[in-house]
This record gives sequence, structure tokens and C-alpha cells, in this order.
Amino acid sequence: MKGKFITFEGIDGAGKSSHVEWLAEWLRARGIVVQVTREPGGTELGEKLRALLLNEPMHLETETLLMFAARREHLARLIEPALARGEWVVCDRFSDATYAYQGGGRGLDRNKFLTLEHWVQERLQPDLTLLFDLPLDIARERIVLANRVLDKFEQERVDFHERVRQAYLERAHGNPSRIQVINADNSIDNIRKKLEKILLVNCL
Ligand code: TMP
Repeated sequence: MKGKFITFEGIDGAGKSSHVEWLAEWLRARGIVVQVTREPGGTELGEKLRALLLNEPMHLETETLLMFAARREHLARLIEPALARGEWVVCDRFSDATYAYQGGGRGLDRNKFLTLEHWVQERLQPDLTLLFDLPLDIARERIVLANRVLDKFEQERVDFHERVRQAYLERAHGNPSRIQVINADNSIDNIRKKLEKILLVNCL
């Protein structure tokens, strides 16, 4: 039996990461074995690539290739074996982030994205993607309030993040059965209720 692959997406400051571990615990309480992971990262090599990707300035195509290189490693070492064992994988970001950040934010040629996506994943897509969406000003406010050192992407201008948000919404529009848009400008409790409902309808 193949496990399920669930991804979390959204602009920086959308608050998705705080729900990743909660969802994993919710699934474990139902007897499901869950691997929690993230991109870029998730493997030893992937985490090294993450440090470069989040901090070093680089050419857009170098950035895209490294995102997909980290993803190939992640799929081969963690995601595909876990799914084959019947475990579930909950992943903080996946290829929709490349579509939104490198494609929407930075203007990567769509065909280059599609070529790499097909090469690295073949036909594998998440069973369910939870897209946390909220207005830019609220997301920026959350980042400022967190009061920590900002990475390369968080330091980008507002118009970059607006393009990322629009690309995510466009991707959701094109994949309505896979990508569920969640209003992230909401209380933690309300978001969790919504997540439970989506999981019960779509995956359990
Ligand atoms: P995180 O802070 O949610 O862990 O994500 C790290 C950053 O990496 C975030 O700003 C989005 C960015 N990113 C991309 O630009 N492309 C990608 O393919 C992925 C997975 C992340």
C-alpha cells in the first residue's frame, strides 16, 4: 500500500510551518506512520544545499537547478521509500514553491520549470497540497514581529512576494482537486478545524 504525500505551501509569513507538526500528530493519533520533512532540505545533502540557497546570491537558473537537485535527493532517499513502505509524508514546501518563487517571483521560463519537474519527479505529485494564503501586508507584519535575521527570500521586495502569491493562486486554480487554498488570516483554532475537515474529506 502506498502512503500519502501531503505538502504545505504559501508565501513567507503565511504561518504554515506551525501547522506541519500539529497535522503530523493528528495523523499519528489515527494510527498513521508519518514522516515530517521540508524543502529545500530533508536530507543531509539537502540541508547543506538549503544553507546555500537561503543565503548565497546566485543566478536564477543555478537557484532552480539546486532546488531540484535537493529535491531529487529528497525523493530518492526519504520521500519515495517512505511512501513505498505505506507511510505518509508531510512536507513543508515542494515543487509548487519552485513554480511560485523561481517562476512567479523571479520569472523563470515555464518550460524550463516543466522540464525539471518532469525529470526529477516523473509523474509524482502530492496527493494533497495545503496552500496558506493571506494578504501581503499581514504576512510582512508577521515576519517583522518575529524579529529574526531574514533569509535571501524574506529580504526580497514586496512586489516579488506579490508575484509569488499570485503564482501560487494561479497554480491552485489549475490544480483544484490537489491544491486546497486556506485563508491563513484566521485564528490557529479555525485553521486547524479547516485542516481536519480537508483531511477527512480528501485523504481518510
Ligand atoms: P521555508 O522558510 O518555508 O522553509 O522556505 C525556505 C525558502 O525557500 C522560502 O522563502 C521559499 C524558498 N523556496 C524557493 O524559492 N523555491 C523552492 O523550490 C523551495 C522549496 C523553497
